[in-house]
Amino acid sequence: MTTTVSQDILPTGQSLDGARAEGERTYALDRAHVFHSWSAQEQISPMTILASEGSYVWDGTGNRLLDFSSQLVNTNVGHQHPKVVAAIQEQAAKLCTIAPQYANDARSEAARLIAERTPGDLNKVFFTNGGADANEHAVRMARLHTGRYKVLSRYRSYHGGTDTAINLTGDPRRWPNDYGNSGVVHFHGPFLYRSQFHAENEQQETERALEHLDQLIRLEGPNSIAAIVLESVPGTAGIMVPSPGYMAGVREICDRYGIVFIADEVMSGFGRTGKWFAIDHFDVVPDLITFAKGVNSGYVPLGGVAISEKIAATFANRPYPGGLTYSGHPLATAAAVATINAMEDERIVENASRIGAEILGPGLRGLADRHPSIGEVRGLGVFWAIELVADRATKEPLAPYGASSPAMNEVIAACRAGGLLPFANFNRIHAVPPCTVTEAEAREGLAILDTVLDIADAHRAS
Ligand SMILES: Cc1ncc(COP(=O)(O)O)c(C=O)c1O
Repeated sequence: MTTTVSQDILPTGQSLDGARAEGERTYALDRAHVFHSWSAQEQISPMTILASEGSYVWDGTGNRLLDFSSQLVNTNVGHQHPKVVAAIQEQAAKLCTIAPQYANDARSEAARLIAERTPGDLNKVFFTNGGADANEHAVRMARLHTGRYKVLSRYRSYHGGTDTAINLTGDPRRWPNDYGNSGVVHFHGPFLYRSQFHAENEQQETERALEHLDQLIRLEGPNSIAAIVLESVPGTAGIMVPSPGYMAGVREICDRYGIVFIADEVMSGFGRTGKWFAIDHFDVVPDLITFAKGVNSGYVPLGGVAISEKIAATFANRPYPGGLTYSGHPLATAAAVATINAMEDERIVENASRIGAEILGPGLRGLADRHPSIGEVRGLGVFWAIELVADRATKEPLAPYGASSPAMNEVIAACRAGGLLPFANFNRIHAVPPCTVTEAEAREGLAILDTVLDIADAHRAS
């Protein structure tokens, strides 16, 4: 395995020697003072990043890595997009911050650009600081709108780290945060590869998953349920594109019982799937869409809730009981305006769609032909997962649900040594580069994965 050749000068113009020395200090201070998310603090050794540009980052020793993670799947326009950087700089010179009760041009324009792209009549935007609080507020709106409390969400999902959001979440990160009093009930969504419904095809999976949801609602009491929260395409949990008809079926169920449909597009929105929103693939209009990440590529923290006319009307003459000091922060919303305009002008959503259809999809399926450790390949746009298994027949995962394994750790380490930064979760590697990724870069990532997957193959059960 060859390590990517270092360059003497970083994209910042800084010499590598100087940057490395700075990187060592950064790492030492990190270990001394920074408390990291989701981690046993003594057991981690965070990679230092010296610089980033486009689809690449440079690690603490100056190695260039192809960012097939888009960090936490947020740098949709790539790293350091010059138009977004310039917009933040211009906004900083003009108006760094202003309290949320005042109208400001960056927030007004960002709201217009978002409302124009969301489906149906989702014409109002409440800005938050990120995705978790977007979900918190969407649930709060749904509860006040319906006068009901209970919320349904699926297993195999992630909705954020704050109190309601982590309880919506259907992955093991919820377990230590779940005191059984959140008012959230979980159900199984469609996932044919590991079907809970013994389905043999997508149609059966859709029908049975909808029947399961309908039955759960009838047993829980339809009049007690405020909302169903679903990622339009679940991201961290495995990029399981819903089987045809499922999202439309959920819409129908919500209408039947007067339940608010919240689509979480925090990871899947803003071009990731090759459309502005993943829900656009299913021709469905939810009542609320939550977003963050790709809205401004994460250059400045931003999230929000896009709100339908009906739900907005609930708060027309009754105060909405929620707010944030930084709701629609000028630097964050200026970054959103520049990001959305760049995506439009540079046809970045179209690029994501084309790269998925022509390069990543066929390329990953080609890897599955060569590597028996790949159990399934699935995705859309620049949003792909490969599921690694010890045995294709039994589908035994290469790491257990909720855990890692020596085999997966080896695969991830080999990716990095080969010059690729992957997004990994349990037994999966996700190929989620920026929406701006070029054909050559996508092929470079596939080639590295091809080499690395020999390691996964060697770990199969004999
Ligand atoms: C689908 C989804 N919802 C919500 C969140 C939480 O967003 P944040 O980390 O900005 O709070 C995430 C983060 O990964 C996500 O993927």
